[in-house]
Amino acid sequence: MGAPGAGKGTHAKEISKKYNIPHISTGDILREEVNKDSELGKKAKSYMDSGKLLPDDVIIEIIGKRLQEDDCRNGYLFDGFPRTIHQAELLDEVSVPDAVIYLKCPDDLIIKRLTGRRISKDGRIYNVYFDPPPEGMEVYQRDDDNEETIRKRLQVFYDTFFPIMNFYKEKGIFHELRGDEEKEIVIKKIFTLLDELGQ
Ligand code: AP5
Ligand code: MG
Repeated sequence: MGAPGAGKGTHAKEISKKYNIPHISTGDILREEVNKDSELGKKAKSYMDSGKLLPDDVIIEIIGKRLQEDDCRNGYLFDGFPRTIHQAELLDEVSVPDAVIYLKCPDDLIIKRLTGRRISKDGRIYNVYFDPPPEGMEVYQRDDDNEETIRKRLQVFYDTFFPIMNFYKEKGIFHELRGDEEKEIVIKKIFTLLDELGQ
């Protein structure tokens, strides 16, 4: 979990590789639907472009379908889900997460990270300030990575996050890490935490 730009996608890719579990990003799934111009994509676009959350029932249906796929048998990693207390409660009915990691990051850094984010065609995440794409590589910017929408997304995050945090704190599975340190340091701390929890 974490605010927009906290590093969820960046670090989820590494976790998924190391532990060989699928990375399930509701944002990525929705963006694929937008690119396909499907009915779901058409619906999702207006919410995403204005920085608002999609209705819970839409997200729950996406997650329900995704969890039935074979690669989820040995575990999975969510990125950007659950985003509301209702989503967290419904997830609990299916399976309680082993661990919830919250990457904490200050707002001013978030604005810089998101306005500087660039993504390659194969989904690698770069940053013009912190991790520039190789010379000549074709990259694109997300439609919601403009300052106005970023501020709205941040507001939505702060409006919804704390009840979810308390929900997982009460279960004793909530872990907070600094998301504003160098990428290599953040991922090292995540691996250490997950390895300790797995013992
Ligand atoms: P989603 O795609 O989940 O977007 P988000 O939460 O706004 O988060 P981001 O993907 O922007 O940030 P991130 O934390 O993944 O950062 P990243 O690793 O890329 O959701 C988009 C929209 O979909 C929502 O607004 C909503 O409309 C909808 N939606 C999705 N899920 C939903 C749900 N469950 N319910 C309802 N609606 C939902 O990093 C950002 C940048 O920083 C990159 O350039 C990266 O290179 C850089 N960076 C990262 N870490 C570091 C570091 N340690 N040091 C230096 N640079 C770093
Ligand atoms: Mg992301």
